[in-house]
Amino acid sequence: MRESRLMINFARLSSHLREINAINRQVDGSCCRLALTDPDRQARDLVLTWMREAGLNVHVDRIGNLIGVQPHGETNFPVMTGSHIDTVATGGPLDGTLGVLAGIEVIRTLDEAGIRTKHPLAVAVFTNEEGVRFQPDMMGSLVFAGGLPLQSALGAADSDGAVLGQELERIGYAGEMPCEQIRPRAFVELHIEQGPVLDRENGVLGAVENLQGISWQEVIVHGTSNHAGTTPMNLRHDAAYCAARTTVFVRELAQRMGGTQVATVGSLRLVPNLVNVIAREACFTVDLRNTDERLLQSAETQLAEFIGDLAGSEGVEFQMRRLARTEPVRFDEKVLESIETVATDLGYPIRRMTSGAGHDAQMIARLCPTAMIFVPSVGGISHNPREFTAPEHLVIGVDTLLHTLLRLANQ
Ligand code: HGY
Ligand code: MN
Ligand code: MN
Repeated sequence: MRESRLMINFARLSSHLREINAINRQVDGSCCRLALTDPDRQARDLVLTWMREAGLNVHVDRIGNLIGVQPHGETNFPVMTGSHIDTVATGGPLDGTLGVLAGIEVIRTLDEAGIRTKHPLAVAVFTNEEGVRFQPDMMGSLVFAGGLPLQSALGAADSDGAVLGQELERIGYAGEMPCEQIRPRAFVELHIEQGPVLDRENGVLGAVENLQGISWQEVIVHGTSNHAGTTPMNLRHDAAYCAARTTVFVRELAQRMGGTQVATVGSLRLVPNLVNVIAREACFTVDLRNTDERLLQSAETQLAEFIGDLAGSEGVEFQMRRLARTEPVRFDEKVLESIETVATDLGYPIRRMTSGAGHDAQMIARLCPTAMIFVPSVGGISHNPREFTAPEHLVIGVDTLLHTLLRLANQ
């Protein structure tokens, strides 16, 4: 069969997406498969079956990454695609999951067409990309790329004290394969944009050339609990007020810096969290991102200075703990050109883009030539059950992935 008439089986891909996203679906439509919980295990079990149906030999490595490899050629040096199937608690149906299921669909389509590439193809499911339950995010791909020691990843604990290595054992995905056994010769990740750029300009495809640096910090303010009615305003050491001032500061910092700087306080917990008690403790997170490493460092420094001044003026103590820190990444020019050539040959408009979100590809870029393909997110919505991509855009994205992988695996 001539490869150019090769097309994926979109009905099969759609039914796989429906099936995996039915796991632990919330009343509001959210997909909730936090890393290494039972819903994540159920999703892993499904993907394992689909990988095998596609003719892949599936390995589980010691951080729980699933790597399905075609059983021909140099199987430790495949051309790889993949992403993640863990979600945030209010996840959409496509974030990560599209990249994994698209990779399996591409390989199954080639297998059914009897097409064998020079180099074997592989699909990876990386453990704990979201970093919501265990930090840092992109953990499985970071360990796979040698950027985080296995033991410190296995020792990560969640807010209830559950330890990652024990959770891997509990769900049956504590693999034997050393994380460095398989070394991809190239990596392409298909992902939804999760932002508004393609949607706003009626775009179809993005060739992602770079990705922001990410700084996640946990901040704990230690103040003094006191009576909300009897304590004069000038005698308060109010942890909630300090958390609120810091939240406003990071918003204004990002606006002042402009460019690609973004800043988010996404989680906040008060103690004792009672209507008539001044909060003695506030625990919150600060997510800072920028495509320029120097500017990201400047944002971190300005935040630290602000917090130092506030500690003095409010008579509180601040504790800061780094949860994740990655530098901006530039993807590989030759892989990008392959993606663009394929898209153009197939008649699909494509444009260069930057990713605001973190992705496993940014970690695999440490190992081999890597790039990403984006498809539009309607309204730029993600990490939200309203996440949606038009079916015709999904087909175009997976078709582009198919022909890009074919091209790279025959070079
Ligand atoms: O936070 C991120 O950008 C990714 O979704 N983990
Ligand atoms: Mn993702
Ligand atoms: Mn995500």
